[in-house]
Amino acid sequence: MPLHSCLNLILIFHLLMLIPSSSSPSPEELSQIPSIFLQHAQHPEVFDWMVDLRRKIHENPELGFQEFETSKLIRAELDRLGISYKYPVAITGVVGFIGTGNPPFVAIRADMDALALQEGVEWEHKSKVPGKMHACGHDAHVAMLLGAAKILQQHRHLIQGTVVLVFQPAEEGGGGAKKMLEAGVLDNVDAIFGLHVSSRHPFGMVISKPGPILAASGFFEAVIGGKGGHAALPQHTIDPILAASNIIVSLQHLVSREADPLDSQVVTIAKFQGGGAFNVIPDSVTIGGTFRAFSKESFIQLKQRIIEVITKQANVQRCNATVEFNEDQKPFFPVTLNDQNLYKHFRTVAGDMLGTNNILDMQPLMGTEDFGFYGEVIPGLFYFVGMKNESVGKFEQGHSPYYIVNEDVLPYGAALHASIATRYLLEYSTKSASTKGHSYDEL
Ligand SMILES: *[C@@H]1O[C@H](CO)[C@@H](O)[C@H](O)[C@H]1NC(C)=O
Ligand SMILES: *[C@@H]1O[C@H](CO)[C@@H](O)[C@H](O)[C@H]1NC(C)=O
Ligand SMILES: [Zn+2]
Ligand SMILES: [Zn+2]
Repeated sequence: MPLHSCLNLILIFHLLMLIPSSSSPSPEELSQIPSIFLQHAQHPEVFDWMVDLRRKIHENPELGFQEFETSKLIRAELDRLGISYKYPVAITGVVGFIGTGNPPFVAIRADMDALALQEGVEWEHKSKVPGKMHACGHDAHVAMLLGAAKILQQHRHLIQGTVVLVFQPAEEGGGGAKKMLEAGVLDNVDAIFGLHVSSRHPFGMVISKPGPILAASGFFEAVIGGKGGHAALPQHTIDPILAASNIIVSLQHLVSREADPLDSQVVTIAKFQGGGAFNVIPDSVTIGGTFRAFSKESFIQLKQRIIEVITKQANVQRCNATVEFNEDQKPFFPVTLNDQNLYKHFRTVAGDMLGTNNILDMQPLMGTEDFGFYGEVIPGLFYFVGMKNESVGKFEQGHSPYYIVNEDVLPYGAALHASIATRYLLEYSTKSASTKGHSYDEL
């Protein structure tokens, strides 16, 4: 047995001795949990297992609500670990339970879906499915949450309550989190934590911020109807191309003239389709795009004004317009809002593991996460885990066909998940008002 693993075992043993299940651990004992969990996760036996899982998932990417094989792999590992779970939840989702089965409950979450994208990286474990790729790191997220499950199960004497493992489908636009909530996954749960790997931040660092960190978003599509005809005889037509162009220009006023300059918002037209010949004015034009805001109020206001500007500006040009938001397929995502108290907890635990100088303040982004759905219902905290290390490779942004994951980050994610949840229960169980007396009946 190498020295490394001896040391690890000694530390685990030490922790077992330190914290008998009945008594409360001292502050010093609590502060040791994160680094002990990290060492555990970095142990070759655990590390190699996580790497293997991540590669298997990477080779077989599945799109939102189709994560059947990924879900099967998760359940097989939970079975091996002796962890009970609920399945199916929201089609492919899996919800595991570790601990007493009684309150308080704390949730940790991973997303399972891949993207419709052809992998451009040539490596041994390249995606085997043409046109599909894990290019957002969700393969790593699943491996990390399973890693956390393994650590937690081995330290279940420390869990004063229940850790709920949330493996959700369809993060990439499908609103899998919304479906999980509708299935009652967070009923009686006091708090939820989620993470995302980050290609933009250095390995060994974590990044977050209290308050809003990611925007609310929606998509829209409008059909502008006019009357087609000969391009040389415009007087006999009602030109929807010019009308759509004016609509697009008018939509720019929503952010530049109507929004508070200190309240970030975006309106982008990303789709413009109409006509096909140089000498024919078409009957109609279709435009589409996305809108983003940092508060619910601004989001609702923006949505209302998009409808008004499109329909009324179309009328100015003698055209008609219809606006659709297709919420069935592309649900509106709420703002991802980090709870102040959970942020403090995250800082303390991550600081104990990595040192406070390795916790960076996050610059909010207009991007979205369907984690925001959870945060609307219970206190939530979302953070990023840096993985950039130029000697491993070139770290492209998420959703690039050249996206890579630095697998060294897997133990960090697993240990952060596990220690944040364990310490939440140890430190907050007395404070939280979770004397609701419910428990999950499948336990
Ligand atoms: C727009 O709708 C009105 C009322 O339904 C209709 O009379 C008009 O012909 C329509 N215009 C176009 C360009 O479709
Ligand atoms: C970056 O990767 C190289 C090569 O794998 C490794 O030797 C080095 O320790 C890594 N840096 C950090 C900060 O982990
Ligand atoms: Zn993504
Ligand atoms: Zn993602």
